[in-house]
Amino acid sequence: MAAAWLAVCRARFEEDYGSRPHIVILLADNVGWASVGFHRPPELPAREVHTPNIDALAAEGMELARAYWYKFCSPSRSALLSGRLPFHVNTFNDDPTMVGQGIPVGMTLMPEVLKRAGYATHFVGKWHVGMASRSKQIPVARGFDSSLGYFHSNNNYYDSRRGQGCGVAVDLWDGEAPSRLNGTDYEERFFCDRTVKIVREHDPASPLFAYHAFHTSCVGWNATTDDLNLQPAWDWYAKFPFIDDDDRRKNVAMVALMDACVGRIVGELKATGLWARSLVVWSSDNGGAVHAGGGSNVYPLKGGYFNNWEGGIRAPALLAGGFLSMSKIRTPAVLEGFVHAADWLSTFAYLAGVDPTDEAARAAGLPPIDSLNVWPLITGANRTSPRVEWPLTPLSERFGEEHTELVGGDAAYMLAPYKLIVGDKIAQANWCGQIHPNTSVLWDSVNDFTNCSWAPDEGKYGCLYDVVDDPTEHHDLAALMPEKAYELYTRLRDAQARFFDPDRGPPQEAACRLANTSGWWQPWLP
Ligand SMILES: *[C@@H]1O[C@H](CO)[C@@H](O)[C@H](O)[C@H]1NC(C)=O
Ligand SMILES: *[C@@H]1O[C@H](CO)[C@@H](O)[C@H](O)[C@H]1NC(C)=O
Ligand SMILES: *[C@@H]1O[C@H](CO)[C@@H](O)[C@H](O)[C@H]1NC(C)=O
Ligand SMILES: *[C@@H]1O[C@H](CO)[C@@H](O)[C@H](O)[C@H]1NC(C)=O
Ligand SMILES: *[C@@H]1O[C@H](CO)[C@@H](O)[C@H](O)[C@H]1NC(C)=O
Ligand SMILES: *[C@@H]1O[C@H](CO)[C@@H](O)[C@H](O)[C@H]1NC(C)=O
Repeated sequence: MAAAWLAVCRARFEEDYGSRPHIVILLADNVGWASVGFHRPPELPAREVHTPNIDALAAEGMELARAYWYKFCSPSRSALLSGRLPFHVNTFNDDPTMVGQGIPVGMTLMPEVLKRAGYATHFVGKWHVGMASRSKQIPVARGFDSSLGYFHSNNNYYDSRRGQGCGVAVDLWDGEAPSRLNGTDYEERFFCDRTVKIVREHDPASPLFAYHAFHTSCVGWNATTDDLNLQPAWDWYAKFPFIDDDDRRKNVAMVALMDACVGRIVGELKATGLWARSLVVWSSDNGGAVHAGGGSNVYPLKGGYFNNWEGGIRAPALLAGGFLSMSKIRTPAVLEGFVHAADWLSTFAYLAGVDPTDEAARAAGLPPIDSLNVWPLITGANRTSPRVEWPLTPLSERFGEEHTELVGGDAAYMLAPYKLIVGDKIAQANWCGQIHPNTSVLWDSVNDFTNCSWAPDEGKYGCLYDVVDDPTEHHDLAALMPEKAYELYTRLRDAQARFFDPDRGPPQEAACRLANTSGWWQPWLP
């Protein structure tokens, strides 16, 4: 039945659009809502942000006004690649030396699905979804034909090293072997070179799937401090002497370099003629890091990276490429419908003409995909988004010691247009200014709390917002609409009954030993 239906869709699709698009995902890291030019109010100094290439794509393509992700990195990437909501794949990526970290081995990932439709598949940049086993978890074991990138998060931008509890080693890997590009350049540059080369050498007879996951504007590991800090390329940093706050200046410089890479990749797609059939998604993987040392800005949204306020989960995003403007597509300039990271899998599978149902996961007893095809929404064929609800973060959230001050304890559920947040002490309960961070007022976001406790006996029903009418979350509706709060709370509890939280296993000393002796973080199991 499903197959027959798919065949009908496919026939209609072929009639409408010809053959499969080239799909290019450009995923930025922690880039805030206000860190791109197309979200800046015109009265602000234009030179504050410098994203001419991304702005041009937004202008000629389509802004995705409600692209939702997890409140931090690995669950977002796991959702994108697996087509699951984080509740069903990963809401917290533990120590990378645990065998079961990242995306469970039995789940089928996006490149494997697209390969069934003949796609050539390539990965560049930040992986962060599991790497213990060479034959099961690294990118080339999960459907990518080629891969250049790092396995963990936050390696150093200049030498690609990462200290990770049990040692310091280079985190950079090319296909099935260590990459020797470490220390040869600022890593965003050789990542960009690789993707440009992939595009240049692609045989247009087959469709292309390229997933370029930028490091920018996430912090990198610093050997001197054994901590994380913003690491711009100094030539780009030098272009912004007029920015008073040093973190803001570094962040703006990093985002500007990323924008230049977007320009190079798009330029190569055009030079090779692939552009006409390309569908490009540019998005951040979550909101901006607005806390001290993050340098990002999510104005006018509330909160930021690590929390479930809109500034943490609603990312700047756009769609572009010749495929989007092909005949018969009546795309709006700004897509207001909700789209979750998990929804790209079914959307691309539909465009590729393959069924995304994950039989392997079913056989392994793992949760099925949650992904919903949003292509009818994108084309304007159906103005209603199929993505109306999802659980964000469970009650009694588990989180790492590193981030206790920020993450943790903000359970949440979305039932559009409402979002319920529950927790006693939810950080970053405030707003960035238009120019943030700045040298005149420091917002200590980590210590700025709201109590959204669930205590019906005391007349407290969490914090409830209508994120469509009140996108900046200034008006808590919980006391006015306790029945609505109850409805979302009940749905959250129901979702929690099906929460996927496998034992990820203990940290493995073998991982550290191999990193120590070889000099590279790498899979330690066959
Ligand atoms: C790359 O890393 C290896 C292993 O740590 C090291 O020996 C080598 O010097 C590094 N290369 C550069 C150019 O820094
Ligand atoms: C690492 O931290 C030290 C001390 O704060 C600082 O001087 C240095 O510039 C940092 N390195 C990078 C690459 O940011
Ligand atoms: C439009 O999409 C919504 C949400 O998926 C669905 O309920 C509705 O049936 C669709 N309408 C048509 C005409 O297909
Ligand atoms: C939050 O409110 C609840 C209910 O009134 C109360 O029990 C709790 O102590 C408060 N927590 C904090 C951190 O203020
Ligand atoms: C400076 O930053 C603070 C905190 O984000 C903000 O309240 C203030 O409005 C900012 N100043 C300007 C000029 O944007
Ligand atoms: C790896 O090296 C670090 C630093 O020298 C050391 O603390 C750690 O014990 C080593 N781990 C293993 C498993 O060899």
